[in-house]
Amino acid sequence: MSRLSRLLALLAMAVLAGCGKLAFSDAEKNTIASLALSALPPLKTDTTNRYADVPAAAALGSTLFFDTGMSGDGLVSCSTCHKIDRQFQDDLPRAVGVGRTNRRTMPLAGVAHDPWFFWDGRRDSLWAQALAPLENPLEQAGNRAAYAHYIKARFGERYERIFGPLPDLSDVPANASPLGSDVQKAAWNAMPAAQAEAVNRVFANIGKAIAAFERSIAPPRTRFDRFAAALATGIQPGDDAFSPEEILGLKLFIGKANCVTCHTGPRFTDSGFHNTGVPPVANLPPDRGRVDAVAQVEADPFNCFGAFRDGEASACGELRFMVKSGPELVRAYKTPSLRGAATRAPYMHAGQFSSLDEVVAHYSKAPASVEGTSEVHPLQLSDRERAALVAFLKTLAE
Ligand code: HEC
Ligand code: HEC
Repeated sequence: MSRLSRLLALLAMAVLAGCGKLAFSDAEKNTIASLALSALPPLKTDTTNRYADVPAAAALGSTLFFDTGMSGDGLVSCSTCHKIDRQFQDDLPRAVGVGRTNRRTMPLAGVAHDPWFFWDGRRDSLWAQALAPLENPLEQAGNRAAYAHYIKARFGERYERIFGPLPDLSDVPANASPLGSDVQKAAWNAMPAAQAEAVNRVFANIGKAIAAFERSIAPPRTRFDRFAAALATGIQPGDDAFSPEEILGLKLFIGKANCVTCHTGPRFTDSGFHNTGVPPVANLPPDRGRVDAVAQVEADPFNCFGAFRDGEASACGELRFMVKSGPELVRAYKTPSLRGAATRAPYMHAGQFSSLDEVVAHYSKAPASVEGTSEVHPLQLSDRERAALVAFLKTLAE
């Protein structure tokens, strides 16, 4: 390039930047840097699970995650719904295991950074979460006594190398659980307390092994991250450069459209719960979100205050200080990460929307919530602006 043409090119860029269309302010640059994957802090140690970073525990957890033997009918594993080649979800509006559930399977990348689990946050650790689908009659439909026997028969040596000796299970009924069928409940209630405690400990350790595996599921670097890195260093991004439409979408996302108030940080989530006015699905039982989860997490014997936590109770700040009531909890759901979202429709806690166009149209209109109060306000976005937001979201999945 001659000196003159280079000068002209620079001049043209300056003119474009002068219009404020393609250039970013310092405040915008700071926000963009805060969203880049490089800003993701390393995973904190989970002192409530002393096996969280033990490789042998993660290896056993991985085996269990993919093992259909871990179910009542021998046909369902975690990976039936959390598919490894589909961002650990299943592309369905509502998950199907042994039965049909009423919520959408959540993708798992980076999930170990969160304090609460499920759309309503009814579990307070990754290891306590893993125990719920194992006994849920619509998901894996097993029971903890059967799982303890199964672990002993199939993985006894691997288990004992990690967690120490398995208890004597010879007098433990084949099927028993405080959450099971009436017969299983009766069998559970007839067990001596020490025996029930021993089975619960094996069950908790199953969760701890699976959680150790899940900690390794990290979100991949995307085109947005390469763009953000280039922007931060001032180097012109080559193939990763954003089109004017993608730039407009990014500016809306962190500006006028307010998306970044909830979809914040390198995972594009504040890990909190919000009512965004997403409509319920007809013919499903009422779903009130966070407000009904508070009592459930408090009642969970595997919660942070319970007997199966490792380490000190000082790790239980989230549970101790959780907001227990208030109108803002009604129909509030966990803010999902937007990384990879563009390639895993449908969307929302019960798969209410089948495309990103529908999602963005919802935010633009911001209908009132059927119950409680939506936190989002109408944006009145133009067709061009809505398309730009969708174009930007796609850069988080390329
Ligand atoms: C039948 C399908 C199905 C099976 C089997 C299943 N899950 Fe899920 N998973 C879901 C659904 C649906 C949700 C959301 C449920 C809700 O919010 O009520 C979910 C939520 C989760 C979450 C919460 C993610 C977050 O961001 O809060 C984790 C973690 C998880 N599952 C891990 C597992 C593990 C581990 C197993 C096996 C022990 C498993 N799941 C088995 C469908 C399934
Ligand atoms: C008040 C907080 C808040 C704001 C503001 C917000 N979101 Fe959300 N977003 C959420 C919550 C909560 C959900 C899940 C709601 C549900 O399942 O009912 C969600 C879901 C989504 C989903 C679906 C992801 C999935 O995996 O299901 C997309 C996409 C999305 N938001 C994009 C945006 C965009 C774009 C904007 C700005 C126009 C925005 N959000 C503004 C909190 C918010």
